[in-house]
Formats: sequence, structure tokens, C-alpha cells
Amino acid sequence: MKSTIRDIALAPLGQRKIDWVVPRMQVLNMVRKEFEEQLPFAGKKVVICLHLEAKTAYLAHVIRAGGAEVTVVASNPLSTQDDVVAALVQQGIGAHAWYNATEEDFNQHLQLALDTEPDFIIDDGGDLVSTIHTTRPELLQRIKGGAEETTTGVLRLHSMVRDGVLKFPMIAVNDAQCKYLFDNRYGTGQSVWDGIMRTTNLVVAGKTSVIAGYGWCGKGVALRAKGLGARVIICEINPIKANEALMDGFEVMPMAEAAKFGDFFITVTGNTDIINKEHFVLMKSGAIMCNAGHFDVEVNVAQLKAIAVSERIARNNITEYTLAGGQMLYLLAEGRLVNLAAGDGHPAEVMDMTFALQALSLQYVALNYDKLSAKVYQVNTEIDEKVAMLKLQSLGLSIDRLTETQIGYLASWSSEEG
Ligand SMILES: NC(=O)c1ccc[n+]([C@@H]2O[C@H](COP(=O)([O-])OP(=O)(O)OC[C@H]3O[C@@H](n4cnc5c(N)ncnc54)[C@H](O)[C@@H]3O)[C@@H](O)[C@H]2O)c1
Repeated sequence: MKSTIRDIALAPLGQRKIDWVVPRMQVLNMVRKEFEEQLPFAGKKVVICLHLEAKTAYLAHVIRAGGAEVTVVASNPLSTQDDVVAALVQQGIGAHAWYNATEEDFNQHLQLALDTEPDFIIDDGGDLVSTIHTTRPELLQRIKGGAEETTTGVLRLHSMVRDGVLKFPMIAVNDAQCKYLFDNRYGTGQSVWDGIMRTTNLVVAGKTSVIAGYGWCGKGVALRAKGLGARVIICEINPIKANEALMDGFEVMPMAEAAKFGDFFITVTGNTDIINKEHFVLMKSGAIMCNAGHFDVEVNVAQLKAIAVSERIARNNITEYTLAGGQMLYLLAEGRLVNLAAGDGHPAEVMDMTFALQALSLQYVALNYDKLSAKVYQVNTEIDEKVAMLKLQSLGLSIDRLTETQIGYLASWSSEEG
């Protein structure tokens, strides 16, 4: 199988990273066993477009265990780990990706992966689906469906449906409870602070963290900031989320006010232009900014560059911008997802649930595509609950079951019955 990677000699290092996560992804191990017996993807080709690190590598192995020929490609140019990709290629999985790919390389890699003519796809953020629809119309008939990983990708799919252009079914894995309650909240919460702390090596306690977006990810980032001893300010546009943040014990204000206070700024809205030049000029010297939303459009880097009098690399993954007033502002990982571009992403135990949902959702598409239409589907409740039960089982935990009396009680409506 053809691959386009940086250096196959890195494979042993990447294999070690994969070996570390496999025993920590017990739900996926159970799914793998089922796949080995049932071969749901026998004779089919799958292209996986995700952040290419160790947990994704294991998902690729699990899909292959289901009988598929698998090719992986990056969903972000800065999150690819070249050693992990090399290990995949050594194990016979196709890969087209390298760390720090230029935009041209990144698009070329997507095209090379699509040259394999997949039957099914997994996407993260919607770039693969959008590339197929805009540049590879000949594949639209062949691709039977796929699954989308993240909030931003699901939003893009919904707009494709609104515009009447989506041509195959996609499952919104992000919207499963076993995804956003754990991955978006606890995964992002932990890994964003891991990325910030390992990149800056600075203390969080006693400092002010400004978090833009109090959705599932923002809640996790705020919760962990509080746990680390920070003062937390939330910026929101949704009055309900703003009230929720307030009752969770955080301060709420617009970015124009918060800009003056922050030591750390974290954007995680899935929107664009969250921190702009009118905010940069208000910031304290030494302020550190980063983004955890899917695309690098939340911190307005173009405006930051335009108002800076100088720019230099202060430390690996940290760019220092000096403004005319003399204050120095720092941007982590060029404003790309800080937990993946400057870290290893979510913990393995969290991705265990997310990727079990991915694998089982793709199996659902493989078994049912003739009954599905070109729409966005929610993950089946049975799949969501199965992943939750397997997770408990893998932890050696069990829960109560409804008795017959309780089932009857919950289903009754009249006072006599009750
Ligand atoms: N870093 C990661 O590993 C990771 C993991 C999961 C999701 N994501 C990405 O993070 C982003 C957020 O995901 P989510 O699941 O939390 O979404 P969400 O929809 O639950 O939350 C987004 C929040 O941002 C708020 N918002 C929108 N525009 C805003 C603005 N201008 N100012 C302030 N707040 C604003 C919304 O009101 C909403 O509450 C998406 O891009 C998603 O794809 C990243």
C-alpha cells in the first residue's frame, strides 16, 4: 500500500506509544474481539481522517481487525506524530501525513488518501467530507457513509444538509452522550491544561484564566482551571450558558472587559474571531493565549501579527509578539488546538469511549447503509448505552437494574395505577 510519511525509521518509537495505550482502551479491546469474529468491514476500504496520535492508531487497527483495508490521513497539520504514523505504515496500514504539513501538502495528503477509493470514512472537523464533495465527485456514489468526530464537523454537516449538498449518510458521533459528556468535557478539560503546562512550564494557581465558550469543552477547561487554583472568567454569547457558568461559581463578562485581567486566555467556541486586536491592546504584558476549538480561527493571528512590532519563537510551540506599547503577548501552537498541537490529546481512557463509538457507528453504517439516506444521523441509543455499559464492565463496576414494579411505576399515568 502506498504511503506518504516523514520517516519509517521512527516506527519503533511510535509503536511504543501505541503499546502504551492499548491496554488502557478496554472498551475498544472488547469491540476489537467482536470485529475479529464478525468482520463487518470484510473487503471494504476505510479512510480515517483524525488527529494522528497513538489512540487514533489503535482505532485504525481495530477497524482493520473488522476486515477493512485502512488508510489514515491528518485532520490537522500540527497534531500528526511522525513516529506513530511510521509505526502504522510498518504494520501495513496506509498513511499520508506528516507533522507541520503546509496547506498544499495537507490537501495533497487528503487527495492521496481518497485515491484509495474508500467505501466508508471517519472524519474530524469536516475537511475530508468537504474535500470529497468539492473535488472528488466521482467518489460520491461509491462512499456509503461515515462518522464525524467533533462539534465543528457536525455543524458543517448540518449546513451541507441545509444546502442540499450532502450525498451520503454521516453519523454525528460527537452528539452521543458517551462522547460529549466525557471527551469534550473531561478529555478537553484535562488535556488542554496538560498542553498549556507542559508547553509553558508556568504555575496556574493564583492566576486568572479567561475561557471563551462555556459549552461541553469550555465547562471541562473551566472545571480544571478551578481545580488548579486559578481565578476563572467565562466569556459567552449564550445567556443560558452564562447563567450556568455563574452558578458553577465563575465570573462572567465580555471579552472586552476580561482582556485586561487574563494571564491565560483559552478559546473553545467553535466560532471565529473571538480574540481580536481591540482585545490584544488591552492585555497585560506576559499574557498567554491559546485555542482549543477545532480550527485556528478563534485567536485572530493575522491581526496579532499586524499590530506586533516584532515576533520571535520564545520556546518550542510559543510565539512571542511585542506590541508598540512594549507589552509582550504569547501564543501557543500558532493558535491551533493546544491539547493536540502541543500535547498528546485526550487521555487514553477517555478516547476509549469515543473511539468505541466511532468503531460501532461505522459498523452500523456498514450493516445498514442500504437503509440510510444522505442525512446526519444520531448515534443509536443502543450503541451509546452499550459503550457506557462496556466501560463500567471494564472498570469492574455494575449498576442497579429496574425491577418490574419500577418499570410499571415509571410507565403509569393514572393515580390508581400509581
Ligand atoms: N480540543 C479538543 O480536543 C476538542 C474536543 C472536542 C471538541 N473540540 C472543538 O471545540 C469547539 C467547542 O466544542 P463544544 O463541544 O464545547 O461546543 P458547544 O457548542 O458545546 O460549545 C460552544 C460554546 O461557545 C459559545 N460561543 C459561540 N460563539 C461565542 C463567542 N463569540 N464568544 C463566546 N462564546 C461563544 C456557544 O454559545 C457555546 O456555549 C468545537 O470547535 C469543537 O469541534 C475540541
